Amino acid sequence: MKDTYIFAIETSCDETSASIIKNGNEEISTVVLSQIDIHKNFGGVVPEIASRNHTQAITLVFEKTLKKANMTMDKIDAIAVTYGPGLNGSLLIGIEAAKALALANNKPLIPVNHMAGHIYANKFSGEFKFPLLALVVSGGHTELIYMDKEYSFKKIGGTLDDSVGEAYDKVARVIGIPYPGGPLIDKMSKIGNSSYKLPTPKDDDSFDFSFSGIKSAVINLVHNEKQRGKEINKEDLAKSFQDTVVNILVKKTIRAIKKYNVKQLLLAGGVSANSGLRNLLDIECNKLGIELLKPEIRYCTDNASMIGAAAYYAYLRGDRADFNLEPNPGLDLEEGDNCEK
Ligand code: KG4
Ligand code: ZN
Repeated sequence: MKDTYIFAIETSCDETSASIIKNGNEEISTVVLSQIDIHKNFGGVVPEIASRNHTQAITLVFEKTLKKANMTMDKIDAIAVTYGPGLNGSLLIGIEAAKALALANNKPLIPVNHMAGHIYANKFSGEFKFPLLALVVSGGHTELIYMDKEYSFKKIGGTLDDSVGEAYDKVARVIGIPYPGGPLIDKMSKIGNSSYKLPTPKDDDSFDFSFSGIKSAVINLVHNEKQRGKEINKEDLAKSFQDTVVNILVKKTIRAIKKYNVKQLLLAGGVSANSGLRNLLDIECNKLGIELLKPEIRYCTDNASMIGAAAYYAYLRGDRADFNLEPNPGLDLEEGDNCEK
C-alpha cells in the first residue's frame, strides 16, 4: 500500500504545533511551540493572548516542520486540523491556516477531534487491540471511553463537574504553585507523605467522577490551617491530594475494564504524564493481566503528532471538511459533525 503522509495542525489551547506523520504512527517531524511562559504571568491561559500568539507563530511553525522533515507540500496527502474542543479563538487560527494550506496546495482537509488525538497519541506506543477502554484525563476532560474499532468512541462515564487537570491546577494555585500546577504537584508528591485526610470523591458504583468537592476540601483545609496560624506542609498536601485522586480514577477504571471485558487500557490526555497514575495503573493492570498503553511523556500534553495519528484513521474512513469548517469549542468525542459525508 502507498504510504500516507499527513500534515497535522494543533492550536486548540496554548501550544502552536505542526507535525508530519506517516501512516498514522511514524513521526517524520514535529514542532511544538508552547506559550506556557507567557500565560504563567496570569495564572492560567488568557484566550486573547493565546490566539494572538498562535497568529504570530503559525507560519514559522509550518516552515520549521517542513524543513525538519526535509519535505515539500507536494509529498503530503492531506492536511489535518483540530476543530474542537478547545478555545474558540485558538482553534480558529489553526483552522484558517489549515484551509489556506489545503487550498493553496490542493489537498483534502481532515477535521480532527482534539480528544481523539489524545487517545491516538498511544499509536506511537503500540498497536490498539479491540475492544479497548481509554481513560482520558486532561485540562478540560475526564472520561472513560469504550472503543470496539478504530475511530469509534462511546463514552461510558465522565466528570460531572471539574476535570482532573483543572483540580490539579486549582489546588496548585491555592498553595502558591505557578500554572500549570499539575506537573509540580506530581513532583512534590514524590517527597511528601499522605498525611492529610481528604474525602474520596464520588466513590460509588457509577463510572462518573467529581472533583469539585476535593478541590473545595483542599481550599478549606488551607484556609483553616492559616487561621490557626499553622504552616501547610505543601509536599504532604500534594501527596495526599494526588493519592486520593489517583486512587478513585484507577478504582473506577479497573471496574470498567472488568465490566466491559476489554483487551487493553489506553491512558490519554495531559494528566497521563502523572507519575502516580502511571505507576498505580501499571500495578493494577499487571495484576489483571491486561495490557496498558501509555503515551510517551512528550505526547501527553498537546502536540500535533497525536492529531496526525488520529487523522490517519479519519482519513481512511473518509472524513473530509470543506472550507466552511468552523471551530467547535464544545465538540464531543461521540460527535462526527462538520464532515462532508
Ligand atoms: O491535555 P492537556 O495538555 O490540555 C488539554 O487538552 O486540556 O492537559 C493539560 C493539563 C493541565 O491541567 C496540567 O496541569 C495537567 O494536564 N498535567 C498534569 C501533569 N502534567 C500535565 N497533571 C498532573 N500530573 C502531571 N504530571
Ligand atoms: Zn489536550
